[in-house]
Amino acid sequence: MDTIIEPFMIKTVEAMPFTSPGERMIHLRAAHLNAFLLHADHVTFDFLTDSGTTAMSDRQWSAMLSAGESYAGSRSYWRFKKVVQSLTGFQHVIPTHQGRAAERILFQVATEKGQCVPSNNHFDTTRANIEYQGVAADDLVCVEAHDAQSEFPFKGNIDLERLESYLVENAGRVPLGMQTITNNTGGGQPASLANIRAVSALYRKHGVPFFLDACRFAENAYMIQQREPGQADRSVREIAREVFSLADGCTMSGKKDALVNMGGFLAMNDDEIAGRARNLLILTEGFPTYGGCAARDLEAMAVGLDEVLDERYLEYRMATTRYLAQGLNERGIPTMQPPGGHAVYIDAKAFLPHIPARQYPGQALVVAMYLEGGIRACEIGSVMFGRDDGAGGFEASEHELVRIALPRRRYTQSHIDFVIELMGTVASRRDDLKGLVMTERPPLLPHFTARFAAVDDWVDSLYG
Ligand code: F0G
Repeated sequence: MDTIIEPFMIKTVEAMPFTSPGERMIHLRAAHLNAFLLHADHVTFDFLTDSGTTAMSDRQWSAMLSAGESYAGSRSYWRFKKVVQSLTGFQHVIPTHQGRAAERILFQVATEKGQCVPSNNHFDTTRANIEYQGVAADDLVCVEAHDAQSEFPFKGNIDLERLESYLVENAGRVPLGMQTITNNTGGGQPASLANIRAVSALYRKHGVPFFLDACRFAENAYMIQQREPGQADRSVREIAREVFSLADGCTMSGKKDALVNMGGFLAMNDDEIAGRARNLLILTEGFPTYGGCAARDLEAMAVGLDEVLDERYLEYRMATTRYLAQGLNERGIPTMQPPGGHAVYIDAKAFLPHIPARQYPGQALVVAMYLEGGIRACEIGSVMFGRDDGAGGFEASEHELVRIALPRRRYTQSHIDFVIELMGTVASRRDDLKGLVMTERPPLLPHFTARFAAVDDWVDSLYG
């Protein structure tokens, strides 16, 4: 069958917010052309992130009702711990309120100033938490990842030669090594099982503990099953288990592949580091049997970690990103290839070649998408990473991308068809889109709060 179906039925619905073109203009102007500053009730299709935006299942909601809300030793903790242990094999399971809390605790207890931590690409909160400790966060992703159009199926791989020489050159300075699955920063791309095995062997050879950033472990395992020779006959659960068995621990944001709105964990085998992590947890997150979560959050994660490995769900999820990317490509909108697990990344540099990096082509596209039909997406380009060089010049980001991140189980096939149609209209106006000027650039994480104005008032002439 060619038709993609959602492998679930709908039991509770939420009305979608609709706005008129005039209202969208008022809202976006009030937000200074920055989609992060919009009120979410003014957004019809919210593709800002796949994190914490999952629709939960009836099984999750009912497990939440039966949670044991105790300060210490809640039955929900033991249930949660058992699920995480049987999936990952890690002995110590430390709940945290989200992924970055697990990261902060891990790096605070396991690293020291002057050291360095390699990965394929560190996600930005991971990098920030590492650098906060005075430690270098180094990206050793494979070369194919730098080419947005390359069809290489595993752009989340680590470059093994670089890793080997990195570990030799930095001997004694690497307290732990990482790999992010899937590689969000690089486009939601998976790492192959062969690569994870080789990375694990290299870290072990050099006596370096190996931690996975496992936020999207199920999507990664599914893409291994689908794309890697010799893996087609294994279940996704079996592949995921093997991946975890190759590592010594993981950080996890439950807001992705544990299918919840809030929650996460840190897990590992090392008794000593786990002991220190628990002490720090008590200081800022809570007692080790709840760690910043309500017991009901732990129940929801326990069920979510099981549901996410349903292969029909994963098939539908990957089919959706593929279908969206194909629909955009057919309308002349180039996307990073192959489409990753949780998002489709539009290559705005290729789509809007007439807008220079300094005028933020990605952000111009974000503006057009909202005004056209209330779609909210996220620029990952020169707004985020561009820098004034201090001498009147501008250092642009390597890529100018717009991420359409798909919340899990939230939108249907006809929503995606509607979005593709809207994007066709955006594409038909492509030559009329112009750039933006950043009128206010905050010193840190500028994309969240920067303000913009349209060059030559194109926004008003096109959409006013
Ligand atoms: N690691 C990866 C690979 C992530 O994508 C994220 C979050 C985190 C760690 C941090 O987890 O948000 O629970 O603290 N990514 C979200 C996103 C924010 O939109 O890509 P968190």
